[in-house]
Amino acid sequence: VKVGGKRYKTVWARGGRGVFMINQNLLPFEFEIKKCGNHSQTVAAIKDMSVRGAGAIGAAAGFALAQAFLEAPQKSGKAFWEYASRAKREIEASRPTAQNLFYATRRVYAAAKKAKTVVEAKKTAVREAQAVADEDAATSRAIGVHGEPLIKNKRSKRGVTRVGTHCNAGWLAFVDWGTALAPVYAARRKGKRVFVFVDETGPRGQGARLTAWELRNERVPHVIIPDAAGAFFTSKGEIDLMMVGADRIAANGDAANKIGTLQRAIACAAYGVPFYVAAPTATFDLRCPNGERIPVEERSEDEVLFRSGPDEKGVMRRVLVANPGSKARNPSFDVTPAKLIAGIITEHGVIKRPNAAKIKAFFAKHCPERLR
Ligand code: MRU
Repeated sequence: VKVGGKRYKTVWARGGRGVFMINQNLLPFEFEIKKCGNHSQTVAAIKDMSVRGAGAIGAAAGFALAQAFLEAPQKSGKAFWEYASRAKREIEASRPTAQNLFYATRRVYAAAKKAKTVVEAKKTAVREAQAVADEDAATSRAIGVHGEPLIKNKRSKRGVTRVGTHCNAGWLAFVDWGTALAPVYAARRKGKRVFVFVDETGPRGQGARLTAWELRNERVPHVIIPDAAGAFFTSKGEIDLMMVGADRIAANGDAANKIGTLQRAIACAAYGVPFYVAAPTATFDLRCPNGERIPVEERSEDEVLFRSGPDEKGVMRRVLVANPGSKARNPSFDVTPAKLIAGIITEHGVIKRPNAAKIKAFFAKHCPERLR
């Protein structure tokens, strides 16, 4: 992707030891590249959401484990593997819902385990982490290709397709391209007219802050709506289809995504609007039978009680926006049941009306190794 005419990825590594990322906590007000010089700093960046979004978290987690392998003491094989497995557990405890995180750490660790020497294990870990990140960008791009035909040329009277989206599942949430927004970008490149309704996505505002910034950067017409207005616009026939990302998809197609997604899916079902989930196969957790078993991260109540942003003089401020002394709850994700999903757009094609049997057959055809 290009920002100010320069090519960027959301997260990348240089020489294994340095991990770099667009600092998403400062967007849309400041564009800054954050450097994490060791695995603990990368874990901290995942936790504080400097890097966020399923695929970007996965890539950062893979890079963090590669950093840990490079840091690990070489004096004995035992100390080396203890250091690496402790780091793996630490990384996996940072954001519990994002399946891509576990996909990345397991892949990097398993690849390194096959090495014959610790020196080789280090090199293998760095290589595998890079492969995970590269595949994330490639699968996102392919999702755009498979999702683009769902954006018909003439949905509304004015020939504009109006897509609703929740949270940020654009390129900021992945290494590049994104998932839910990739079909929008592909449609635009084909000359289709698209308008995006962006849910603000409280409490952290990934829609209002990140998706809106990204769409503006890509010159895609859009409007930010309060989360509470999604059902209203759906009921008025102003949204033609909904496209969201996913943080983990169970074996039966139930999909966890940013809190507030479920209510959007219910509104779509009530008004006959197709609701699509876009995610790479790396987001599927085939060991998890259904959505009830997906762990849902609960974050600090401060994210609900306080908001931050620049004041009228441009000085960043954090302000209380709730009754002083009241407590808050802050579940970060909800689970949309498969029965509400019109299709899951993956890098290998769309799984229409997903269910356990269709997903199993899909994996058997496209990635049988994942069923072993
Ligand atoms: O808590 P976040 O911002 O890391 O949330 C994850 C997400 O980005 C969304 O749920 C998104 O829609 C899933 S796809 C990246």
